[in-house]
Amino acid sequence: MTRRPIIIDTDPGIDDAVALAIALFSEKLDVRLITTVAGNVGLEKVTKNAVHLLEFFGKKVPIALGAARPLIKAPIDASDIHGSTGMDGFDFKEPKEDLVLKEHAVNAMYRVIMENEGPTTLVPIGPLTNIALLLSMYPDVKEKIDEIVLMGGSLTRGNYGVMSEFNIAADPEAAKMVFHSGVPIVMAGLDVGWKALVFPEDSEKLKDMNETGNMIYHLFQKYRGGSMKTGLKMYDSCAIAYLLKPEMYEVAETFVDIELSGSMTAGCTVVDLRGYLKQPNNAKVCVDIDPVMFKEWFMESLSKCK
Ligand code: RIB
Ligand code: CA
Repeated sequence: MTRRPIIIDTDPGIDDAVALAIALFSEKLDVRLITTVAGNVGLEKVTKNAVHLLEFFGKKVPIALGAARPLIKAPIDASDIHGSTGMDGFDFKEPKEDLVLKEHAVNAMYRVIMENEGPTTLVPIGPLTNIALLLSMYPDVKEKIDEIVLMGGSLTRGNYGVMSEFNIAADPEAAKMVFHSGVPIVMAGLDVGWKALVFPEDSEKLKDMNETGNMIYHLFQKYRGGSMKTGLKMYDSCAIAYLLKPEMYEVAETFVDIELSGSMTAGCTVVDLRGYLKQPNNAKVCVDIDPVMFKEWFMESLSKCK
């Protein structure tokens, strides 16, 4: 079976860690490069977390550091959710091998995509700063990207602002550039993430499942301060789930734009399902998910990890 070449742009991040585990151990995906972006916590910390995860997984995928801050906005972070390290809860070993490239993430993405004979899929699961920079610095790369499958945005309410989701709110200008780039986009937003839940009983199953499950179990004890009763949202895994089991989703092809100037709505994704803005479609938006199918897929995928 030919594996789908992908690049994951990430800000680990506890839910990023789970998404990376599923992607790296999937027989259907070929993770060619992991790029880091400031988001949940600062660039140095998210990169350290990515290095720790690849060492833990025993996967030799190159890592390249990207943007340390958004294009225009002042940086925000989510250390209240993920802890001060960005991945509190587990004591990772220091890496034996240095997987971190000297190249900037944008240049590494461009090189890896152009070197690939076929198309590459970009999978951003953090703020879109690196992706916006890639598309504006190297516009010729667009013809070699088949899809951008991202975690971000919301059809309804936000989780950072009243109407804004964290990844988009962190760098709304970058998000606007990406959604107007002309590259096919799949948006897995909060609406599906809110149904992609892990409960205490699921976490207990992970604890004894395998080494990865046990590590994730310990991270979950710290995620959002450990409040798991209402379910932990596996936001970033929703982007990977679209690649591996798209049938769990209801998808609408529509026009999405990013509000930049609203005094109370800046950073929100305007998902124009009824065509009021009379713009051509630019995204497939995951409008609903089968939560049972997601949970079965999620646990099955983690059972394939080390
Ligand atoms: O809003 C959820 C997103 O913000 C996830 O990618 C999470 O890791 C944080 O980056
Ligand atoms: Ca993330």
